Amino acid sequence: MKKKLIAGNWKMNGSSAVNEVLLKAVIAGMTGNDCLVAVCVPAPYLAQAQALTASSGIDVGSQDVSQHESGAYTGEVSAAMLKDFGVRYVIVGHSERRQYHAESDALVALKAQRALASGITPIVCVGETLAEREAGQTEEVVKRQLAAVIHANGHCISEIVVAYEPVWAIGTGKTATPEQAQQVHAVLRAQLKAATPHADRVHILYGGSMNAANAAHLLGQLDIDGGLVGGASLKAPDFLSIIAAAR
Ligand code: 13P
Repeated sequence: MKKKLIAGNWKMNGSSAVNEVLLKAVIAGMTGNDCLVAVCVPAPYLAQAQALTASSGIDVGSQDVSQHESGAYTGEVSAAMLKDFGVRYVIVGHSERRQYHAESDALVALKAQRALASGITPIVCVGETLAEREAGQTEEVVKRQLAAVIHANGHCISEIVVAYEPVWAIGTGKTATPEQAQQVHAVLRAQLKAATPHADRVHILYGGSMNAANAAHLLGQLDIDGGLVGGASLKAPDFLSIIAAAR
């Protein structure tokens, strides 16, 4: 059975001083037989996170990547640059980027493609809004979002990580019930199975108010292979409890 993956998404939080305290505490609290662990940090802290986590078993991730390879794209960071910093994962299509930066399914698919071409694993986020859930459109929405990435990436699709993050559960303290999450994860797994014989290798993470109290139950579901953790990844004891629940 594959190891679970717990990835922290720090979002736009942290400072050199705060990051150092946090990462040292997480590393000190890990037991050596943990699940796969990653922290997705703001771009200016990639080098710091890389240095602090060296040989700790924690991988470093970024929170976004440019769809362009290189050139006159002021402010953008390319996949090759991230690779240069030892980045292992990159989050693409987070709902906050879809919402505040108008990222389309096609753009997210292209970003995933750029990451894969540079040997970085994209963590592809999908998820419905509350209005979409209430309108009974959850499956349709997540399948549309994942289909774009499958279409653009062909046989490489078994190399991605998928994160199901219901938008209504992000930062709200409202979590999908384990059964609600499992239902969507099963839909995503079936979609991956139709695209690759290696769908069982793909980690499908749950994200949205995952915390020390609810992690074990969520992670106990058949198709929940880990978590993409926001707020709780900023507190070492909480993040460590989630890691322990995923062992
Ligand atoms: P919270 O865990 O803070 O709800 O955030 C989830 C998330 O968006 C992770 O990418």
